[in-house]
Amino acid sequence: MTHIAVLGSTNMDLVAYVAKAPQRGETVTGREFRTIPGGKGANQAVAAAHAGSDVSMIGAVGADAFGSQLRTTLEHSGVDTDHLRTTEGPSGTAHIVVDDEGGNAIVVVPGANATVDHLAPGDEVLIAGADALLLQLEIPLAAVLAGAEAARRHSVRTILTPSPVQSLPPELLASIDLLVPNEHEAAALTGVTDPREAATALLDQVPEVVVTLGAAGSLYAARGAEPLTVPAPRVTAVDSTGAGDTFVGTLAVALAEGRPMRAALAWASTAASLSVQRVGASSSMPYRSEIDAQAASNTRHTS
Ligand code: RIB
Ligand code: NA
Repeated sequence: MTHIAVLGSTNMDLVAYVAKAPQRGETVTGREFRTIPGGKGANQAVAAAHAGSDVSMIGAVGADAFGSQLRTTLEHSGVDTDHLRTTEGPSGTAHIVVDDEGGNAIVVVPGANATVDHLAPGDEVLIAGADALLLQLEIPLAAVLAGAEAARRHSVRTILTPSPVQSLPPELLASIDLLVPNEHEAAALTGVTDPREAATALLDQVPEVVVTLGAAGSLYAARGAEPLTVPAPRVTAVDSTGAGDTFVGTLAVALAEGRPMRAALAWASTAASLSVQRVGASSSMPYRSEIDAQAASNTRHTS
């Protein structure tokens, strides 16, 4: 069994479904409202657990009703929450508008996630025993850096999703093995809009990069190798919230199992394509059996 550790955020997603997102100063009427557990860290944890790995989540929830719901959701997905602290004050929330094309706009209010600014006693031992540590940028950078450095000390693979995008200190990138930006984040980090060129530029700072390209799949670049593009299955998106997290969580499991990069990317893309056809973030993440069944049917249709 593989073991993935996730150091990151938990948010309750407060989602309004609407035909078209409002412009500044505009009021529109939505169709539906849902509260769905999310947060990039928790999403990646759920995706990895559904994909078949043991998973531990390091982070914090608030001392409110959302906090206990977020914890319970993780536990129901089989995620170990022994390192998920409960802090005073509110849980993180994400205020999300999803439009009829399945696209979204998100405001995140960190709440308890802002207290995750260091590793707690025991966190490093947990990280040391994992096959990979998954990191994102919805907790303070100090903790992301501490986690990455702890993983590095124990030769644990680090996978960073640079989202929400911000400039990254060189000492953080020095402890990252695989960086997984989407195309917008890759452009923001490098100032280069072409994803292939952006990926190549990022190789100055990290050994491996995967740029996610939405419906177009993903692009892999590594030092000294030709970039690789892996297409995504064609689907109609209902809600793309958490698709990137599904991709990363699933990819981490495939790599921990020792699968070659091309196969791992195809499996992760299949998982993400299933998730965008269902509403919500954690609520949309497919199980291993579903990913395998879909991957088999994709192969039948393309061969
Ligand atoms: O990546 C998707 C996530 O971003 C949502 O679940 C929301 O919580 C925001 O953090
Ligand atoms: Na979804």
